[in-house]
Amino acid sequence: MNLKEIEDSARNELKAAVSREAVEKLRVKYLGRKGEITAVLRSLKDMPLEERRRVGPEAQSLRRDVERLINEKVSAIGSASSASGVDLTAPGRKVSRGHLHPLTLVDEEIRRIFKSMNFSVVEGPEVETEYYNFDALNIPPNHPAREMWDTFWLRQTRTDADGVHTHTKKSPRQSALLLRTHTSPMQIRYMEEHNPPFQIIVPGRTFRYEATDASHEINFYQLEGLMVGKSVSLANFKSVVQEFFKRFFGGQKIEFRYRPAYFPFVEPGLEVEIKLATSGPEKGLRPNGAGKRQGTWLEIMGAGMVHPRVFEFAHYNPRDWQGFAFGMGLDRLAMIKYKIPDIRLFYSGDLRFIRQF
Ligand code: DAH
Repeated sequence: MNLKEIEDSARNELKAAVSREAVEKLRVKYLGRKGEITAVLRSLKDMPLEERRRVGPEAQSLRRDVERLINEKVSAIGSASSASGVDLTAPGRKVSRGHLHPLTLVDEEIRRIFKSMNFSVVEGPEVETEYYNFDALNIPPNHPAREMWDTFWLRQTRTDADGVHTHTKKSPRQSALLLRTHTSPMQIRYMEEHNPPFQIIVPGRTFRYEATDASHEINFYQLEGLMVGKSVSLANFKSVVQEFFKRFFGGQKIEFRYRPAYFPFVEPGLEVEIKLATSGPEKGLRPNGAGKRQGTWLEIMGAGMVHPRVFEFAHYNPRDWQGFAFGMGLDRLAMIKYKIPDIRLFYSGDLRFIRQF
Protein backbone atom coordinates (compact mmCIF):
# COMPACT_ATOMS: atom_id res chain seq x y z
CA MET A 1 0.00 0.00 0.00
CA ASN A 2 1.42 3.40 -0.86
CA LEU A 3 1.31 6.45 1.38
CA LYS A 4 -1.51 8.05 -0.55
CA GLU A 5 -3.75 5.06 -0.02
CA ILE A 6 -2.85 4.90 3.65
CA GLU A 7 -3.67 8.56 4.07
CA ASP A 8 -7.05 8.24 2.33
CA SER A 9 -8.20 5.27 4.35
CA ALA A 10 -6.99 6.83 7.62
CA ARG A 11 -8.93 10.02 6.93
CA ASN A 12 -12.09 8.14 5.94
CA GLU A 13 -12.05 5.80 8.88
CA LEU A 14 -11.39 8.62 11.32
CA LYS A 15 -14.29 10.57 9.90
CA ALA A 16 -16.59 7.58 10.44
CA ALA A 17 -15.43 6.88 13.99
CA VAL A 18 -17.94 8.01 16.66
CA SER A 19 -16.55 6.66 19.88
CA ARG A 20 -13.29 7.13 21.69
CA GLU A 21 -12.74 3.42 21.53
CA ALA A 22 -13.02 3.38 17.75
CA VAL A 23 -10.50 6.22 17.48
CA GLU A 24 -8.04 4.43 19.75
CA LYS A 25 -8.31 1.38 17.54
CA LEU A 26 -7.36 3.52 14.54
CA ARG A 27 -4.39 4.93 16.43
CA VAL A 28 -3.14 1.38 16.90
CA LYS A 29 -3.96 0.45 13.31
CA TYR A 30 -1.90 3.30 11.82
CA LEU A 31 0.60 4.45 14.44
CA GLY A 32 0.97 1.42 16.73
CA ARG A 33 4.05 -0.77 16.92
CA LYS A 34 2.73 -2.84 14.03
CA GLY A 35 0.78 0.05 12.51
CA GLU A 36 0.68 0.74 8.79
CA ILE A 37 2.54 4.07 8.92
CA THR A 38 5.02 2.65 11.40
CA ALA A 39 5.69 -0.18 8.98
CA VAL A 40 6.55 2.29 6.21
CA LEU A 41 8.90 4.19 8.51
CA ARG A 42 10.62 0.94 9.52
CA SER A 43 11.07 -0.10 5.94
CA LEU A 44 12.98 3.12 5.12
CA LYS A 45 16.32 1.68 6.20
CA ASP A 46 16.08 -1.03 3.55
CA MET A 47 15.36 1.39 0.76
CA PRO A 48 17.86 2.69 -1.74
CA LEU A 49 19.10 6.14 -0.76
CA GLU A 50 17.19 7.85 -3.54
CA GLU A 51 13.84 6.39 -2.58
CA ARG A 52 14.51 6.89 1.10
CA ARG A 53 15.07 10.61 0.51
CA ARG A 54 11.70 10.89 -1.24
CA VAL A 55 9.56 8.63 0.93
CA GLY A 56 11.12 9.47 4.31
CA PRO A 57 9.84 13.07 4.68
CA GLU A 58 6.43 12.14 3.22
CA ALA A 59 5.99 9.29 5.66
CA GLN A 60 7.08 11.49 8.58
CA SER A 61 4.60 14.20 7.66
CA LEU A 62 1.81 11.64 7.21
CA ARG A 63 2.56 10.29 10.68
CA ARG A 64 2.28 13.78 12.15
CA ASP A 65 -0.93 14.50 10.22
CA VAL A 66 -2.62 11.33 11.33
CA GLU A 67 -1.51 11.88 14.91
CA ARG A 68 -2.98 15.39 14.84
CA LEU A 69 -6.24 14.19 13.26
CA ILE A 70 -6.59 11.49 15.89
CA ASN A 71 -6.02 13.93 18.75
CA GLU A 72 -8.50 16.36 17.27
CA LYS A 73 -11.08 13.64 16.95
CA VAL A 74 -10.58 12.52 20.54
CA SER A 75 -11.15 15.98 21.90
CA ALA A 76 -14.13 16.50 19.58
CA ILE A 77 -15.80 13.41 20.97
CA GLY A 78 -14.96 14.42 24.53
CA SER A 79 -16.34 17.92 24.24
CA ALA A 80 -19.47 16.78 22.39
CA SER A 81 -20.49 14.55 25.24
CA SER A 82 -19.52 16.89 28.04
CA ALA A 83 -21.13 19.86 26.30
CA SER A 84 -24.52 18.16 26.29
CA GLY A 85 -23.90 16.73 29.75
CA VAL A 86 -24.42 13.23 28.41
CA ASP A 87 -21.94 10.49 28.96
CA LEU A 88 -22.99 8.02 26.33
CA THR A 89 -20.98 5.26 27.95
CA ALA A 90 -22.51 5.62 31.44
CA PRO A 91 -25.00 2.96 32.57
CA GLY A 92 -28.61 4.12 32.60
CA ARG A 93 -29.98 5.69 35.76
CA LYS A 94 -32.90 3.79 37.25
CA VAL A 95 -36.11 5.76 37.31
CA SER A 96 -38.37 4.53 40.05
CA ARG A 97 -42.08 4.82 39.38
CA GLY A 98 -45.08 4.73 41.67
CA HIS A 99 -46.87 1.44 42.26
CA LEU A 100 -50.47 0.55 42.84
CA HIS A 101 -51.09 -1.07 46.20
CA PRO A 102 -52.00 -4.77 45.91
CA LEU A 103 -55.41 -4.04 47.42
CA THR A 104 -55.98 -1.42 44.74
CA LEU A 105 -54.99 -3.90 42.05
CA VAL A 106 -57.42 -6.47 43.42
CA ASP A 107 -60.18 -3.88 43.79
CA GLU A 108 -59.78 -2.72 40.18
CA GLU A 109 -59.71 -6.28 38.88
CA ILE A 110 -62.87 -7.22 40.78
CA ARG A 111 -64.77 -4.18 39.55
CA ARG A 112 -63.70 -4.93 35.99
CA ILE A 113 -64.88 -8.53 36.14
CA PHE A 114 -68.25 -7.79 37.73
CA LYS A 115 -68.92 -4.87 35.39
CA SER A 116 -68.36 -7.20 32.46
CA MET A 117 -71.05 -9.43 33.99
CA ASN A 118 -73.48 -6.49 34.05
CA PHE A 119 -73.15 -5.65 37.74
CA SER A 120 -73.18 -1.99 38.80
CA VAL A 121 -70.65 -0.74 41.32
CA VAL A 122 -71.99 1.31 44.24
CA GLU A 123 -70.39 2.56 47.43
CA GLY A 124 -71.70 3.47 50.85
CA PRO A 125 -70.72 5.36 54.00
CA GLU A 126 -68.03 4.06 56.34
CA VAL A 127 -69.72 5.69 59.30
CA GLU A 128 -73.00 3.83 59.48
CA THR A 129 -76.03 3.75 61.73
CA GLU A 130 -76.91 0.87 63.97
CA TYR A 131 -80.11 0.55 61.97
CA TYR A 132 -78.46 -0.18 58.62
CA ASN A 133 -75.52 -2.14 59.99
CA PHE A 134 -77.67 -4.40 62.19
CA ASP A 135 -81.42 -3.93 62.67
CA ALA A 136 -82.48 -3.77 59.04
CA LEU A 137 -80.31 -6.81 58.31
CA ASN A 138 -82.44 -8.82 60.70
CA ILE A 139 -80.01 -8.48 63.61
CA PRO A 140 -82.09 -6.89 66.39
CA PRO A 141 -80.55 -5.38 69.55
CA ASN A 142 -79.49 -7.98 72.07
CA HIS A 143 -79.59 -10.69 69.43
CA PRO A 144 -76.68 -13.07 70.00
CA ALA A 145 -75.73 -12.75 66.30
CA ARG A 146 -74.37 -9.30 67.05
CA GLU A 147 -71.46 -11.04 68.68
CA MET A 148 -70.33 -11.97 65.18
CA TRP A 149 -69.24 -8.38 64.61
CA ASP A 150 -67.06 -6.66 67.19
CA THR A 151 -68.06 -3.10 66.70
CA PHE A 152 -66.48 0.32 67.01
CA TRP A 153 -69.30 2.43 68.39
CA LEU A 154 -68.96 6.16 67.92
CA ARG A 155 -69.58 8.50 70.77
CA GLN A 156 -71.96 11.22 69.69
CA THR A 157 -71.82 14.74 71.00
CA ARG A 158 -75.02 16.59 71.77
CA THR A 159 -75.14 20.29 72.48
CA ASP A 160 -77.60 21.21 75.22
CA ALA A 161 -79.73 24.33 75.24
CA ASP A 162 -77.20 26.02 77.52
CA GLY A 163 -74.38 25.16 75.08
CA VAL A 164 -72.81 22.32 77.04
CA HIS A 165 -71.42 19.40 75.04
CA THR A 166 -72.32 16.04 76.45
CA HIS A 167 -71.30 12.64 75.19
CA THR A 168 -74.02 10.12 74.72
CA LYS A 169 -73.54 6.64 73.42
CA LYS A 170 -76.87 6.77 71.68
CA SER A 171 -78.98 9.82 71.17
CA PRO A 172 -82.65 9.10 71.84
CA ARG A 173 -84.18 9.96 68.49
CA GLN A 174 -81.35 8.81 66.30
CA SER A 175 -79.88 5.40 65.64
CA ALA A 176 -76.43 5.09 67.20
CA LEU A 177 -73.42 5.61 64.96
CA LEU A 178 -70.68 3.07 64.37
CA LEU A 179 -67.95 2.19 61.89
CA ARG A 180 -69.57 -0.31 59.55
CA THR A 181 -68.52 -3.84 60.40
CA HIS A 182 -69.39 -5.10 56.92
CA THR A 183 -70.57 -3.82 53.55
CA SER A 184 -73.99 -5.50 53.93
CA PRO A 185 -75.79 -2.31 55.10
CA MET A 186 -75.58 -1.10 51.51
CA GLN A 187 -78.05 -3.86 50.60
CA ILE A 188 -80.75 -1.96 52.50
CA ARG A 189 -79.62 1.51 51.42
CA TYR A 190 -79.62 0.47 47.78
CA MET A 191 -82.98 -1.29 47.88
CA GLU A 192 -84.59 1.71 49.59
CA GLU A 193 -83.77 3.80 46.53
CA HIS A 194 -83.93 1.40 43.60
CA ASN A 195 -86.48 -0.93 42.15
CA PRO A 196 -85.60 -4.48 41.18
CA PRO A 197 -84.44 -6.20 39.10
CA PHE A 198 -80.79 -5.19 39.57
CA GLN A 199 -77.37 -6.57 40.32
CA ILE A 200 -74.76 -4.64 42.27
CA ILE A 201 -71.44 -5.01 43.99
CA VAL A 202 -70.30 -2.83 46.90
CA PRO A 203 -66.55 -2.67 47.50
CA GLY A 204 -65.55 -0.79 50.62
CA ARG A 205 -63.65 -0.32 53.81
CA THR A 206 -64.88 -2.03 56.94
CA PHE A 207 -63.85 -2.03 60.60
CA ARG A 208 -63.85 -4.43 63.50
CA TYR A 209 -62.83 -3.94 67.07
CA GLU A 210 -60.59 -6.96 67.29
CA ALA A 211 -57.09 -7.94 68.31
CA THR A 212 -54.90 -7.89 65.21
CA ASP A 213 -52.94 -10.90 64.03
CA ALA A 214 -51.78 -12.37 60.72
CA SER A 215 -55.34 -12.68 59.48
CA HIS A 216 -57.20 -9.94 61.37
CA GLU A 217 -56.97 -6.20 61.05
CA ILE A 218 -59.22 -3.62 62.67
CA ASN A 219 -59.42 -2.03 59.23
CA PHE A 220 -59.97 -4.18 56.15
CA TYR A 221 -61.90 -4.29 52.89
CA GLN A 222 -64.97 -6.20 51.83
CA LEU A 223 -66.94 -6.80 48.70
CA GLU A 224 -70.69 -7.19 48.92
CA GLY A 225 -72.84 -8.51 46.11
CA LEU A 226 -76.60 -8.40 45.68
CA MET A 227 -78.78 -9.57 42.83
CA VAL A 228 -82.56 -9.29 43.02
CA GLY A 229 -85.18 -10.29 40.47
CA LYS A 230 -88.38 -12.24 39.93
CA SER A 231 -86.73 -15.63 39.88
CA VAL A 232 -83.11 -15.22 40.97
CA SER A 233 -81.94 -18.51 42.42
CA LEU A 234 -78.98 -20.19 44.06
CA ALA A 235 -78.17 -21.67 40.67
CA ASN A 236 -77.68 -18.11 39.36
CA PHE A 237 -75.50 -17.40 42.37
CA LYS A 238 -73.31 -20.40 41.69
CA SER A 239 -72.75 -19.52 38.06
CA VAL A 240 -71.89 -15.91 38.92
CA VAL A 241 -69.34 -16.75 41.63
CA GLN A 242 -67.79 -19.55 39.63
CA GLU A 243 -67.34 -17.29 36.63
CA PHE A 244 -65.93 -14.57 38.86
CA PHE A 245 -63.34 -16.76 40.57
CA LYS A 246 -62.26 -18.38 37.33
CA ARG A 247 -61.49 -14.99 35.87
CA PHE A 248 -59.98 -13.61 39.07
CA PHE A 249 -57.55 -16.49 39.43
CA GLY A 250 -56.57 -16.38 35.76
CA GLY A 251 -58.43 -19.33 34.37
CA GLN A 252 -56.74 -21.96 36.51
CA LYS A 253 -58.76 -24.96 37.56
CA ILE A 254 -60.84 -24.29 40.69
CA GLU A 255 -63.02 -26.62 42.71
CA PHE A 256 -66.02 -25.20 44.61
CA ARG A 257 -67.74 -26.36 47.75
CA TYR A 258 -70.88 -24.91 49.36
CA ARG A 259 -71.54 -25.49 53.03
CA PRO A 260 -74.50 -24.40 55.15
CA ALA A 261 -73.77 -21.43 57.40
CA TYR A 262 -75.71 -18.97 59.48
CA PHE A 263 -76.00 -15.28 58.65
CA PRO A 264 -79.09 -13.46 59.94
CA PHE A 265 -79.78 -11.68 56.64
CA VAL A 266 -79.95 -14.76 54.41
CA GLU A 267 -81.94 -17.99 54.37
CA PRO A 268 -80.55 -20.42 53.49
CA GLY A 269 -77.08 -19.13 54.30
CA LEU A 270 -73.92 -20.71 53.05
CA GLU A 271 -70.17 -20.48 52.92
CA VAL A 272 -68.25 -20.87 49.69
CA GLU A 273 -64.95 -22.68 49.72
CA ILE A 274 -62.55 -23.01 46.82
CA LYS A 275 -59.60 -25.24 46.08
CA LEU A 276 -57.02 -23.97 43.64
CA ALA A 277 -55.29 -26.64 41.60
CA THR A 278 -52.11 -24.75 40.94
CA SER A 279 -51.77 -22.60 44.01
CA GLY A 280 -48.20 -22.68 45.18
CA PRO A 281 -47.09 -23.41 48.71
CA GLU A 282 -48.76 -20.85 50.91
CA LYS A 283 -46.36 -20.97 53.76
CA GLY A 284 -47.56 -18.87 56.62
CA LEU A 285 -50.91 -18.12 55.02
CA ARG A 286 -53.31 -19.06 57.75
CA PRO A 287 -56.34 -16.79 57.66
CA ASN A 288 -58.91 -18.34 59.97
CA GLY A 289 -56.70 -21.39 60.11
CA ALA A 290 -57.63 -22.26 56.54
CA GLY A 291 -55.53 -22.61 53.44
CA LYS A 292 -52.11 -23.57 54.63
CA ARG A 293 -50.93 -25.52 51.65
CA GLN A 294 -51.65 -26.05 48.03
CA GLY A 295 -54.72 -28.10 47.41
CA THR A 296 -56.48 -27.20 50.64
CA TRP A 297 -59.98 -25.76 50.86
CA LEU A 298 -60.05 -22.01 51.36
CA GLU A 299 -63.08 -20.39 52.92
CA ILE A 300 -63.69 -17.46 50.63
CA MET A 301 -67.15 -15.94 51.14
CA GLY A 302 -70.44 -15.91 52.97
CA ALA A 303 -73.64 -15.89 50.93
CA GLY A 304 -77.25 -16.94 50.71
CA MET A 305 -80.73 -16.09 49.55
CA VAL A 306 -81.93 -12.72 50.84
CA HIS A 307 -84.02 -13.20 53.97
CA PRO A 308 -87.71 -12.16 53.62
CA ARG A 309 -87.32 -9.92 56.68
CA VAL A 310 -84.56 -8.00 54.89
CA PHE A 311 -86.85 -7.40 51.91
CA GLU A 312 -89.52 -6.17 54.30
CA PHE A 313 -87.10 -3.70 55.89
CA ALA A 314 -86.36 -2.39 52.40
CA HIS A 315 -90.11 -2.20 51.58
CA TYR A 316 -89.99 -4.93 48.96
CA ASN A 317 -92.70 -7.56 48.98
CA PRO A 318 -90.90 -10.86 49.69
CA ARG A 319 -93.61 -12.70 47.72
CA ASP A 320 -92.67 -10.79 44.59
CA TRP A 321 -88.90 -10.80 44.74
CA GLN A 322 -86.04 -13.07 45.48
CA GLY A 323 -82.31 -12.62 45.34
CA PHE A 324 -78.92 -13.72 46.45
CA ALA A 325 -76.33 -11.82 48.48
CA PHE A 326 -72.69 -12.49 49.15
CA GLY A 327 -69.83 -10.91 51.03
CA MET A 328 -66.10 -11.53 51.01
CA GLY A 329 -62.86 -10.06 52.28
CA LEU A 330 -60.79 -8.26 49.66
CA ASP A 331 -57.67 -8.55 51.79
CA ARG A 332 -58.10 -12.29 51.94
CA LEU A 333 -58.57 -12.51 48.18
CA ALA A 334 -55.40 -10.49 47.65
CA MET A 335 -53.51 -12.66 50.13
CA ILE A 336 -54.48 -15.80 48.26
CA LYS A 337 -53.82 -14.35 44.82
CA TYR A 338 -50.39 -12.94 45.68
CA LYS A 339 -49.47 -15.44 48.40
CA ILE A 340 -49.14 -12.82 51.12
CA PRO A 341 -48.76 -14.42 54.54
CA ASP A 342 -49.83 -11.57 56.84
CA ILE A 343 -52.71 -9.11 56.42
CA ARG A 344 -50.84 -6.49 58.42
CA LEU A 345 -48.34 -6.10 55.56
CA PHE A 346 -51.02 -4.27 53.56
CA TYR A 347 -51.11 -1.48 56.10
CA SER A 348 -47.48 -1.48 57.17
CA GLY A 349 -46.35 1.17 54.69
CA ASP A 350 -43.22 -0.92 54.16
CA LEU A 351 -41.85 -0.03 50.72
CA ARG A 352 -40.00 -3.33 50.42
CA PHE A 353 -43.42 -4.98 50.43
CA ILE A 354 -45.21 -2.49 48.17
CA ARG A 355 -42.46 -2.45 45.53
CA GLN A 356 -43.09 -6.08 44.70
CA PHE A 357 -46.35 -5.29 42.93
N1 DAH B 1 -71.57 -9.54 56.06
C1 DAH B 1 -70.97 -10.81 56.35
C2 DAH B 1 -69.73 -10.62 57.20
O1 DAH B 1 -69.20 -9.57 57.21
C3 DAH B 1 -70.58 -11.54 55.08
C4 DAH B 1 -71.80 -11.97 54.32
C5 DAH B 1 -72.35 -13.21 54.54
C6 DAH B 1 -72.40 -11.11 53.41
C7 DAH B 1 -73.46 -13.65 53.85
C8 DAH B 1 -73.55 -11.53 52.72
C9 DAH B 1 -74.06 -12.80 52.93
O2 DAH B 1 -74.13 -10.74 51.80
O3 DAH B 1 -75.15 -13.20 52.24
O4 DAH B 1 -69.32 -11.52 57.84
